Amino acid sequence: MAANRYHLFSIFVFLLLPLFLQFYSGACDLQFNYYNESCPKAEEIIKEEVVKLYHKHGNTAVSWIRNLFHDCIVKSCDASVLLETVNSIESEQKSVRSFGMRNFKYVNTIKEALEKECPSTVSCADIVSLSARDGILMLGGPRVEMKTGRRDSRESYLTEVEKLIPNHNDTISTVLSAFQSVGIDIEGTVALLGAHSVGRVHCVNLVDRLYPTADPTLDADYAVYLKGRCPTPTPDPKAVEYARNDRETPMILDNMYYNNILNHKGLLAVDQQLASDPRTAPYVQQMAADNDYFHVQFSRAIVLLSENSPLTGDQGEIRKDCRYVNSN
Ligand code: HEM
Ligand SMILES: *[C@@H]1O[C@H](CO)[C@@H](O)[C@H](O)[C@H]1NC(C)=O
Ligand SMILES: *[C@@H]1O[C@H](CO)[C@@H](O)[C@H](O)[C@H]1NC(C)=O
Repeated sequence: MAANRYHLFSIFVFLLLPLFLQFYSGACDLQFNYYNESCPKAEEIIKEEVVKLYHKHGNTAVSWIRNLFHDCIVKSCDASVLLETVNSIESEQKSVRSFGMRNFKYVNTIKEALEKECPSTVSCADIVSLSARDGILMLGGPRVEMKTGRRDSRESYLTEVEKLIPNHNDTISTVLSAFQSVGIDIEGTVALLGAHSVGRVHCVNLVDRLYPTADPTLDADYAVYLKGRCPTPTPDPKAVEYARNDRETPMILDNMYYNNILNHKGLLAVDQQLASDPRTAPYVQQMAADNDYFHVQFSRAIVLLSENSPLTGDQGEIRKDCRYVNSN
């Protein structure tokens, strides 16, 4: 009798419990080629649109990479960053951390192409991840394999954004712990910051390092150049005054970023600290010396970021328009 009860108990623990856990966590539900039956052309359509947009506006590809970071590090990869302010929703795009984010309107171009082929099937969250994947390739970065099956949030998390996305002048410890909390180690964090090999920084995020006196960790000639780009200590935030992240290869996702920071030409305070902090400096050295190693680590870390606690199964929804939750 007792043995029998034990037997039933062990069936529960060893067979049923794991099933229940998988059901409730949903974490294992991302899979390769998730749309292979519901929308077999989904990944091809996203890629086509990303390529077309890149040829029209090269910096769309840059935006797709930043979108993935800002979406995924805040709670989960659920396209919450794409929601606009309307009704009870307050857009994450209003946060100071989102300053300079651009090209959101072209996400709709991608979504419209998908809706034409298979309505209400492909999530905006998967568009965020796959457009970043395809954008990385257009910018000369690595080919990244990504799973799909993410679903879209029904809310945005404006109040979480400043807590979860580090500021441009935070310490490396803060940056490392932000990434550690989503399962990304130091090596992966150093690789992800290599995204600052492309794109731009507005003067509002730079002037602290230029005025009243230039930050001594900044190369003196480079400081003069940056002051030329940002001539006043109090730039009008609406003015389009900026410097490119990487003067040498501004539209290529390569290891020039690491060479720049080793030469004291990092733009943000966090970028520059990466080269000097003893926890990160060895990886900076290695990535500066070996672009393939940078690409391998960047791929690994971007996949981890893209899989941060996704909504799956019947959680969330598949938005019809990435800017708004579906109305009931
Ligand atoms: C400690 C972490 C990070 C901080 C503090 C940070 C901060 C910033 C800031 C201040 C800008 C400039 C915004 C502007 O003035 O227009 C920027 C741009 C950018 N960031 Fe980050 N970032 C971080 C990590 C990342 C990661 C992990 C990625 C992607 C994997 C990323 C991708 C980008 C891209 C692509 C741009 C250029 C955007 C454009 O030109 O439109 N960043 N970041
Ligand atoms: C296609 O989908 C089915 C489930 O519907 C799955 O079993 C199969 O592995 C998928 N094929 C590929 C190539 O991913
Ligand atoms: C970091 O920059 C912000 C502006 O983005 C500023 O308000 C803050 O004082 C700076 N913090 C430090 C420690 O310099």
